[in-house]
Amino acid sequence: MKKVEALSLKELQKERKIEWIDMGIEGLTDFIPGLPKGDAILVRGEPGTGKTICCLQFAHAGAVKGEKCVYISTEETPQTIMRTGRELWSDFPSLITSGQVAIVDLSIGASYASDYALINKEEAVEMLMKGLDAQPGATRIVMDSLSSLERRLVDPTDFREVFMKLLLEVKKRGATTLFSAEGIPKDPNITEYLVDHLIYLDYHKHDVIWTRVFILRKSRSCPLKPQILKLNIESGGLSVEEIPISLKPVWFASKL
Ligand SMILES: Nc1ncnc2c1ncn2[C@@H]1O[C@H](COP(=O)(O)OP(=O)(O)OP(=O)(O)O)[C@@H](O)[C@H]1O
Ligand SMILES: [Mg+2]
Repeated sequence: MKKVEALSLKELQKERKIEWIDMGIEGLTDFIPGLPKGDAILVRGEPGTGKTICCLQFAHAGAVKGEKCVYISTEETPQTIMRTGRELWSDFPSLITSGQVAIVDLSIGASYASDYALINKEEAVEMLMKGLDAQPGATRIVMDSLSSLERRLVDPTDFREVFMKLLLEVKKRGATTLFSAEGIPKDPNITEYLVDHLIYLDYHKHDVIWTRVFILRKSRSCPLKPQILKLNIESGGLSVEEIPISLKPVWFASKL
Protein backbone atom coordinates (compact mmCIF):
# COMPACT_ATOMS: atom_id res chain seq x y z
CA MET A 1 0.00 0.00 0.00
CA LYS A 2 1.17 3.56 -0.75
CA LYS A 3 2.77 5.39 2.21
CA VAL A 4 0.67 8.28 3.52
CA GLU A 5 2.63 11.48 4.10
CA ALA A 6 1.51 14.87 5.35
CA LEU A 7 2.12 17.88 3.09
CA SER A 8 4.53 20.49 4.42
CA LEU A 9 3.34 24.07 4.94
CA LYS A 10 5.60 25.16 2.04
CA GLU A 11 3.87 22.73 -0.29
CA LEU A 12 0.48 23.96 0.84
CA GLN A 13 1.50 27.62 0.38
CA LYS A 14 2.63 26.86 -3.14
CA GLU A 15 -0.88 25.56 -3.81
CA ARG A 16 -2.33 28.92 -2.80
CA LYS A 17 -0.80 30.69 -5.81
CA ILE A 18 -3.77 30.44 -8.10
CA GLU A 19 -3.43 30.91 -11.83
CA TRP A 20 -6.85 32.09 -12.97
CA ILE A 21 -8.13 31.31 -16.41
CA ASP A 22 -10.91 33.01 -18.32
CA MET A 23 -13.74 30.63 -19.29
CA GLY A 24 -14.53 32.89 -22.21
CA ILE A 25 -18.00 33.96 -21.08
CA GLU A 26 -18.15 37.68 -21.65
CA GLY A 27 -18.70 39.65 -18.45
CA LEU A 28 -17.98 36.77 -16.06
CA THR A 29 -14.67 38.20 -14.87
CA ASP A 30 -16.60 41.25 -13.60
CA PHE A 31 -17.95 38.91 -10.92
CA ILE A 32 -15.24 36.31 -10.31
CA PRO A 33 -11.47 36.44 -10.90
CA GLY A 34 -11.71 33.46 -13.25
CA LEU A 35 -11.38 29.77 -12.53
CA PRO A 36 -8.20 28.10 -11.27
CA LYS A 37 -6.16 26.55 -14.08
CA GLY A 38 -6.32 22.76 -14.14
CA ASP A 39 -9.71 22.55 -12.43
CA ALA A 40 -12.73 20.56 -13.57
CA ILE A 41 -15.94 22.43 -14.34
CA LEU A 42 -19.38 20.99 -14.95
CA VAL A 43 -22.09 22.92 -16.77
CA ARG A 44 -25.62 21.54 -16.44
CA GLY A 45 -28.95 22.61 -17.84
CA GLU A 46 -32.14 21.71 -19.66
CA PRO A 47 -32.23 21.45 -23.49
CA GLY A 48 -31.29 24.64 -25.29
CA THR A 49 -29.96 26.47 -22.26
CA GLY A 50 -26.53 27.04 -23.84
CA LYS A 51 -24.33 24.14 -22.66
CA THR A 52 -22.84 23.41 -26.07
CA ILE A 53 -22.23 27.08 -26.81
CA CYS A 54 -20.59 27.40 -23.38
CA CYS A 55 -18.32 24.45 -24.25
CA LEU A 56 -17.47 25.89 -27.67
CA GLN A 57 -16.78 29.30 -26.17
CA PHE A 58 -14.46 27.79 -23.56
CA ALA A 59 -12.43 26.11 -26.31
CA HIS A 60 -12.55 29.18 -28.55
CA ALA A 61 -11.34 31.49 -25.75
CA GLY A 62 -8.37 29.24 -25.05
CA ALA A 63 -7.52 28.73 -28.71
CA VAL A 64 -7.42 32.44 -29.57
CA LYS A 65 -4.89 32.85 -26.75
CA GLY A 66 -2.75 30.12 -28.30
CA GLU A 67 -3.86 27.24 -26.07
CA LYS A 68 -4.32 23.77 -27.53
CA CYS A 69 -7.85 22.47 -27.02
CA VAL A 70 -9.62 19.20 -27.53
CA TYR A 71 -13.39 19.08 -27.92
CA ILE A 72 -14.83 15.63 -27.37
CA SER A 73 -18.37 15.40 -28.62
CA THR A 74 -20.52 12.44 -27.63
CA GLU A 75 -23.73 14.03 -28.84
CA GLU A 76 -23.34 16.35 -31.82
CA THR A 77 -21.46 15.57 -35.01
CA PRO A 78 -18.39 17.63 -36.03
CA GLN A 79 -20.58 19.15 -38.78
CA THR A 80 -23.10 20.70 -36.39
CA ILE A 81 -20.32 21.80 -34.04
CA MET A 82 -18.59 23.55 -36.93
CA ARG A 83 -21.85 25.12 -38.03
CA THR A 84 -22.57 26.61 -34.58
CA GLY A 85 -18.94 27.65 -34.06
CA ARG A 86 -18.80 29.39 -37.45
CA GLU A 87 -22.10 31.19 -36.80
CA LEU A 88 -20.78 32.58 -33.53
CA TRP A 89 -17.15 33.37 -34.33
CA SER A 90 -15.81 33.96 -37.85
CA ASP A 91 -12.34 32.73 -36.84
CA PHE A 92 -13.66 29.39 -35.54
CA PRO A 93 -13.00 27.37 -38.76
CA SER A 94 -9.41 28.62 -38.92
CA LEU A 95 -8.79 27.45 -35.34
CA ILE A 96 -9.89 23.98 -36.43
CA THR A 97 -7.81 23.93 -39.62
CA SER A 98 -4.72 25.18 -37.79
CA GLY A 99 -5.15 22.35 -35.29
CA GLN A 100 -5.54 24.72 -32.33
CA VAL A 101 -8.87 23.05 -31.59
CA ALA A 102 -9.22 19.32 -32.27
CA ILE A 103 -12.76 18.00 -32.52
CA VAL A 104 -13.15 14.35 -31.59
CA ASP A 105 -16.27 12.66 -32.85
CA LEU A 106 -17.61 10.18 -30.31
CA SER A 107 -21.19 10.75 -31.40
CA ILE A 108 -23.48 7.83 -32.05
CA GLY A 109 -22.59 7.79 -35.77
CA ALA A 110 -18.86 7.47 -35.16
CA SER A 111 -17.29 4.34 -36.58
CA TYR A 112 -16.48 2.66 -33.26
CA ALA A 113 -20.16 2.13 -32.44
CA SER A 114 -21.53 -1.39 -32.31
CA ASP A 115 -24.80 -2.29 -34.03
CA TYR A 116 -26.72 -1.14 -30.99
CA ALA A 117 -24.37 1.79 -30.28
CA LEU A 118 -23.88 0.51 -26.75
CA ILE A 119 -20.42 0.14 -25.25
CA ASN A 120 -19.04 -1.43 -22.12
CA LYS A 121 -16.92 0.45 -19.60
CA GLU A 122 -13.60 -0.78 -21.02
CA GLU A 123 -14.57 0.39 -24.51
CA ALA A 124 -15.76 3.70 -23.10
CA VAL A 125 -12.48 4.33 -21.27
CA GLU A 126 -10.44 3.28 -24.28
CA MET A 127 -12.27 5.60 -26.66
CA LEU A 128 -12.05 8.49 -24.21
CA MET A 129 -8.30 8.04 -23.77
CA LYS A 130 -7.88 7.90 -27.57
CA GLY A 131 -9.95 11.06 -27.78
CA LEU A 132 -7.71 12.85 -25.31
CA ASP A 133 -4.62 11.69 -27.20
CA ALA A 134 -5.96 13.36 -30.36
CA GLN A 135 -4.54 16.61 -28.99
CA PRO A 136 -1.34 15.95 -27.01
CA GLY A 137 -0.53 18.78 -24.62
CA ALA A 138 -4.08 20.18 -24.64
CA THR A 139 -4.53 22.70 -21.84
CA ARG A 140 -8.29 22.87 -22.32
CA ILE A 141 -10.45 19.78 -22.61
CA VAL A 142 -14.16 19.76 -23.36
CA MET A 143 -16.51 16.83 -22.98
CA ASP A 144 -20.01 17.52 -24.34
CA SER A 145 -21.82 15.66 -22.86
CA LEU A 146 -21.43 13.25 -19.96
CA SER A 147 -25.13 12.36 -20.23
CA SER A 148 -24.85 10.92 -23.72
CA LEU A 149 -21.78 8.97 -22.65
CA GLU A 150 -23.76 7.53 -19.73
CA ARG A 151 -26.64 6.57 -22.04
CA ARG A 152 -24.28 4.61 -24.25
CA LEU A 153 -23.05 2.31 -21.49
CA VAL A 154 -24.38 -1.24 -21.56
CA ASP A 155 -24.56 -0.99 -17.78
CA PRO A 156 -25.29 2.62 -16.75
CA THR A 157 -24.08 1.91 -13.21
CA ASP A 158 -20.57 1.76 -14.72
CA PHE A 159 -20.76 5.48 -15.35
CA ARG A 160 -19.34 6.29 -11.90
CA GLU A 161 -16.19 4.32 -12.65
CA VAL A 162 -15.81 5.70 -16.18
CA PHE A 163 -16.27 9.26 -14.96
CA MET A 164 -13.77 8.87 -12.13
CA LYS A 165 -11.18 7.44 -14.54
CA LEU A 166 -11.77 10.30 -16.96
CA LEU A 167 -11.52 12.91 -14.21
CA LEU A 168 -8.30 11.39 -12.90
CA GLU A 169 -6.84 11.40 -16.39
CA VAL A 170 -7.67 15.04 -17.21
CA LYS A 171 -6.28 16.12 -13.82
CA LYS A 172 -3.10 14.13 -14.49
CA ARG A 173 -2.74 15.97 -17.80
CA GLY A 174 -3.06 19.30 -15.95
CA ALA A 175 -5.71 20.56 -18.34
CA THR A 176 -8.65 22.71 -17.36
CA THR A 177 -11.69 20.64 -18.26
CA LEU A 178 -15.27 21.56 -18.99
CA PHE A 179 -17.88 18.80 -18.84
CA SER A 180 -21.50 19.27 -19.76
CA ALA A 181 -24.47 17.26 -18.54
CA GLU A 182 -28.21 17.36 -19.07
CA GLY A 183 -30.75 18.76 -16.62
CA ILE A 184 -30.55 20.11 -13.11
CA PRO A 185 -31.15 17.15 -10.81
CA LYS A 186 -33.09 17.50 -7.57
CA ASP A 187 -30.48 15.40 -5.82
CA PRO A 188 -26.90 16.22 -6.81
CA ASN A 189 -24.98 13.21 -8.06
CA ILE A 190 -21.37 12.09 -8.16
CA THR A 191 -20.37 14.42 -11.02
CA GLU A 192 -21.52 17.48 -9.11
CA TYR A 193 -19.62 16.55 -5.99
CA LEU A 194 -16.42 15.55 -7.78
CA VAL A 195 -15.94 18.59 -10.00
CA ASP A 196 -14.37 21.78 -8.67
CA HIS A 197 -16.93 24.16 -10.16
CA LEU A 198 -20.57 23.70 -10.95
CA ILE A 199 -22.57 25.93 -13.27
CA TYR A 200 -26.30 25.69 -13.90
CA LEU A 201 -27.83 27.27 -17.00
CA ASP A 202 -31.55 27.77 -16.59
CA TYR A 203 -34.59 29.79 -17.56
CA HIS A 204 -36.74 31.93 -15.32
CA LYS A 205 -40.23 32.94 -16.37
CA HIS A 206 -41.72 36.19 -15.13
CA ASP A 207 -45.14 37.04 -16.59
CA VAL A 208 -44.58 36.36 -20.28
CA ILE A 209 -40.87 37.06 -20.22
CA TRP A 210 -38.35 34.26 -20.12
CA THR A 211 -34.95 35.18 -18.79
CA ARG A 212 -31.92 32.96 -19.24
CA VAL A 213 -29.90 32.63 -16.05
CA PHE A 214 -26.37 31.56 -15.22
CA ILE A 215 -25.90 30.15 -11.74
CA LEU A 216 -22.46 29.54 -10.31
CA ARG A 217 -23.63 26.89 -7.89
CA LYS A 218 -20.28 25.88 -6.48
CA SER A 219 -16.75 27.09 -6.97
CA ARG A 220 -13.79 25.78 -5.03
CA SER A 221 -11.23 28.48 -4.11
CA CYS A 222 -13.22 31.14 -5.86
CA PRO A 223 -15.08 34.00 -4.16
CA LEU A 224 -18.70 33.92 -5.30
CA LYS A 225 -20.28 37.32 -5.94
CA PRO A 226 -23.17 37.05 -6.82
CA GLN A 227 -24.19 33.53 -7.76
CA ILE A 228 -27.06 34.26 -10.11
CA LEU A 229 -26.52 36.27 -13.26
CA LYS A 230 -28.58 37.06 -16.33
CA LEU A 231 -27.37 35.04 -19.30
CA ASN A 232 -27.50 36.27 -22.89
CA ILE A 233 -26.90 34.23 -26.03
CA GLU A 234 -26.11 36.41 -29.03
CA SER A 235 -23.70 36.48 -31.94
CA GLY A 236 -20.35 36.17 -30.19
CA GLY A 237 -21.75 33.60 -27.76
CA LEU A 238 -22.64 33.76 -24.08
CA SER A 239 -22.41 36.83 -21.91
CA VAL A 240 -23.52 37.47 -18.34
CA GLU A 241 -24.66 40.52 -16.45
CA GLU A 242 -26.42 41.43 -13.19
CA ILE A 243 -30.04 40.26 -12.95
CA PRO A 244 -32.12 43.39 -13.70
CA ILE A 245 -33.44 45.01 -10.52
CA SER A 246 -37.02 44.50 -11.76
CA LEU A 247 -36.58 40.71 -11.84
CA LYS A 248 -34.59 40.32 -8.63
CA PRO A 249 -37.45 40.14 -6.09
CA VAL A 250 -39.34 37.64 -8.25
CA TRP A 251 -36.30 35.51 -8.85
CA PHE A 252 -34.97 35.52 -5.31
CA ALA A 253 -38.36 34.96 -3.72
CA SER A 254 -39.09 31.90 -5.81
CA LYS A 255 -35.65 30.33 -5.96
CA LEU A 256 -33.85 31.11 -2.74
N1 LIG B 1 -25.84 31.73 -33.62
C1 LIG B 1 -26.64 31.91 -32.58
N2 LIG B 1 -26.94 33.16 -32.16
C2 LIG B 1 -27.77 33.37 -31.10
N3 LIG B 1 -28.33 32.37 -30.40
C3 LIG B 1 -28.05 31.10 -30.76
C4 LIG B 1 -27.19 30.81 -31.86
N4 LIG B 1 -27.09 29.47 -31.97
C5 LIG B 1 -27.87 28.96 -30.99
N5 LIG B 1 -28.45 29.94 -30.28
C6 LIG B 1 -29.36 29.76 -29.13
O1 LIG B 1 -28.63 29.10 -28.12
C7 LIG B 1 -29.44 28.09 -27.54
C8 LIG B 1 -28.57 27.11 -26.82
O2 LIG B 1 -27.95 26.21 -27.72
P1 LIG B 1 -27.04 25.02 -27.21
O3 LIG B 1 -26.87 24.12 -28.37
O4 LIG B 1 -25.80 25.55 -26.57
O5 LIG B 1 -27.96 24.36 -26.10
P2 LIG B 1 -27.69 23.05 -25.22
O6 LIG B 1 -27.90 23.44 -23.80
O7 LIG B 1 -26.37 22.48 -25.58
O8 LIG B 1 -28.87 22.10 -25.68
P3 LIG B 1 -28.94 20.47 -25.73
O9 LIG B 1 -29.26 20.01 -24.35
O10 LIG B 1 -30.05 20.20 -26.67
O11 LIG B 1 -27.62 19.98 -26.23
C9 LIG B 1 -30.26 27.59 -28.70
O12 LIG B 1 -31.43 26.96 -28.28
C10 LIG B 1 -30.58 28.90 -29.42
O13 LIG B 1 -31.69 29.52 -28.84
MG1 LIG C 1 -25.75 20.66 -26.41
